[in-house]
Amino acid sequence: MELDYLKSKDLHCVPYGERYRNLSEIFDEDFDAIIAVLAQAPLCVEGQDHVNSRKAMALLIASRLKHVRNQIPAMIDMYCAKLDTPGTIDLMGHVINPLVHNFLDLIAGAALTLDQNSDISSVFSKTNGMRKRRKINEQIASLQDKLRASFPNQSDVDIQRKIVVGVLGNDALCGTLGATLYHIFENADRMPLSKLAYPNIPNYSGVKFVDRIAMQDTVVCKHALQAGQEFEVKFDELHKRTTESEKMALFGGGRHTCLGKGISMDLWDGLVLNLKQKHIMCTVRSYKERKDHVFRIPEEFIVEVSCV
Ligand code: HEM
Repeated sequence: MELDYLKSKDLHCVPYGERYRNLSEIFDEDFDAIIAVLAQAPLCVEGQDHVNSRKAMALLIASRLKHVRNQIPAMIDMYCAKLDTPGTIDLMGHVINPLVHNFLDLIAGAALTLDQNSDISSVFSKTNGMRKRRKINEQIASLQDKLRASFPNQSDVDIQRKIVVGVLGNDALCGTLGATLYHIFENADRMPLSKLAYPNIPNYSGVKFVDRIAMQDTVVCKHALQAGQEFEVKFDELHKRTTESEKMALFGGGRHTCLGKGISMDLWDGLVLNLKQKHIMCTVRSYKERKDHVFRIPEEFIVEVSCV
């Protein structure tokens, strides 16, 4: 059902960059780094601007695809090897976050130096206070400076597109992998990883919803929306869906469909392949999701690894 909303021409994505510009003018705050990066994010624009921005991001990702795909198995082997020693392990801190950060660096073709405390994906949250917004701007500005120093011959726009990979990919991917693996391990019933049933498509999304705004009075799925009304399109209960296309809604649909979909699925497939070779058990010892309006993302996911 969310696909009807996402495909509607009457509903546009929210111009987050413009919102930061307004905030910066009203409150005399410096959000320049955020505004510059969001200007390159296809998720913030519509019409011809969206076509251009999407094409540029798609080209960046396509140019890295072969290299990233070649690296996926070794990268997964390296981080998942941490599961080969019996004991307690912080799965987010030692496997999922570093794996995703390494993966995004490969896509961006640059060291984005993300860590577990990176707030850059939170740029889209409407519930952020001014302090958090300032912190995000500082993190993006410092990343921009580092990348400018590493790539003196690249344009600012090229640098900002690399940062968009981190902004759009980080929490979505860490959250999706973390939440999906948690539900698999939680229902493992003392079975080894090699015998667990892994879904073909991750069935818990790190992205709780995406925002849309009605451009005119309209009705979508019998839901009347007034011009200017904002609406959250939620990705609920993916795990209860049956068809492949329903499950793939994880990556959205329509003109803003996720550009990281194919490569994220490659990462998931690689991860499943690796875990299926492990004759160990992972028992969840603690799991806690971050308080986050936009993302479902574990801040704590501790498992006990033991021999079968
Ligand atoms: C499992 C991980 C991921 C999930 C669940 C996810 C989910 C989504 C969703 C739901 C959208 C649609 C947003 C909308 O319609 O408003 C989207 C858009 C997007 N995603 Fe992802 N994403 C993931 C990973 C990635 C990665 C790794 C990248 C970067 C390589 C990425 C780049 C993008 C881009 C550029 C868009 C905007 C496309 C546009 O507006 O035309 N995503 N993602």
